[in-house]
Amino acid sequence: MKKVITYGTYDLLHEGHINLLRRAKALGDYLIVGVTNDSFDRERGKLNVRNNVLERVEAVKATGFVDEVIIEDYVGQKIDDILKYDVDIFAIGSDWEGKFDYLSEFCEVVYLPRTEGVSSTMLRAKSEIVVNLGVVGCGRIAKRFVAESSKVDAVHIESLYDIQPEAAEEIAPEGAYIAKSFEELVARVDAVYIATPHLQHYPQAKYALEQGKHVLCETPMVLSGAEAEELYRIAEEQGVVLLEANKTAYCPAFNHLVTLIKSGLIGDVVGIDASESKLWGKDKLRRELDPNEAGGSLYEMGSYPLLPIVRLLGTKYENINIYSRLNGDGVDVYTRGIMRFESAVASFQLGLGVKTEGNLVISGTKGYAYVPSPWWKTDYFELRYEDQNQNKKYFYKWDEHGLRYEIQEFVACIVNRRMTSARLTPQQSIAMAYVMEQFAERKNFFKL
Ligand code: CTP
Repeated sequence: MKKVITYGTYDLLHEGHINLLRRAKALGDYLIVGVTNDSFDRERGKLNVRNNVLERVEAVKATGFVDEVIIEDYVGQKIDDILKYDVDIFAIGSDWEGKFDYLSEFCEVVYLPRTEGVSSTMLRAKSEIVVNLGVVGCGRIAKRFVAESSKVDAVHIESLYDIQPEAAEEIAPEGAYIAKSFEELVARVDAVYIATPHLQHYPQAKYALEQGKHVLCETPMVLSGAEAEELYRIAEEQGVVLLEANKTAYCPAFNHLVTLIKSGLIGDVVGIDASESKLWGKDKLRRELDPNEAGGSLYEMGSYPLLPIVRLLGTKYENINIYSRLNGDGVDVYTRGIMRFESAVASFQLGLGVKTEGNLVISGTKGYAYVPSPWWKTDYFELRYEDQNQNKKYFYKWDEHGLRYEIQEFVACIVNRRMTSARLTPQQSIAMAYVMEQFAERKNFFKL
């Protein structure tokens, strides 16, 4: 019996796929099709796949040409599969010509003619609902955001606004409009990305939501719990999406870490320690240390270490003690917080002018998770145990500045009319704002 194997994503199954499968089947007696797993596609940069793996498997089966479907999960799996299933022929479309010659050591490699004029990418583009987005506050982060938005289907940067028009012009993609006022920008678009200094987030997000626009707001979204609650309430009333743009929250590796821990791999979580620090010159940290711009290490970076804490331990902490070292302007250059939960304790450490190891350790009753610095750009972590033979290392891809994941989630929420994201829920975002508020009120606060 001659066995043939082929692989693909098979998103929005089309005629090209059907022709390919027919031709592959005709090469032998038994056809195995490897369909890519969702996480594998995301990892290799295919962020825009529409059908999930189950839907894609069903569609491939329904063609009637397939004898067996397997899931493709990792790079290098093709060789393993060819050996495991004793495959005679590896077949793939001619768009891959030459790319799989290395498999000829293991079986015959055949490039089949590709059907012209159709692809999943084309079909996605045709059916796409495009979200017209306006960018407000055109500094460093917005520049990265604009560049990465080109990696996400269904989003179009329609206009930009900055109090200094040159800043908007500098980062604007071709053809984008430079708005003369914030209000003009909001009127033109479906959704707004707010990347202005912290204190402008609340009035700008509120205005945009009241105008019925979706909002993706940089982190920390607001510095008061009541303001956060109000914004989410307005979003709900208006039927629009409000997301806090905490890039770590949406990245694939961090989410896998959370799901592994929630599945009990390190037992009950008893402690979390997360840190982040920057030791840059005063010149580079001007805004970050400006008391009039809500400067300081907690406001600047606190929502990153708070993220694993609220995702894993929840939002119902019993109390928080905060310890800070303040500079001459009363701005915290170092802050350490200890949060007590009913059956766990978490601590976070932040420095702007104080350096500390920026790692994340999650301690459990069976083992612990270790994410080395910079853990907020998670691309690698380990689960470690008393018996070192059980330790496991996990590797992922982190693309550029990692903003494409939050953009993708924001757009997916809008397109699918899913008003909140499980990756950073309104409750979690509100809880973080209450921590900021407690700090501002100097409650349970100790000066170092
Ligand atoms: N294929 C084909 N003809 C097409 C499109 C795809 O023969 N018009 C083949 C590919 O060469 C591959 C298989 O179908 O062997 C699965 O490809 P996949 O990447 O899932 O399909 P695309 O439509 O090319 O997807 P995308 O646009 O997302 O790259």
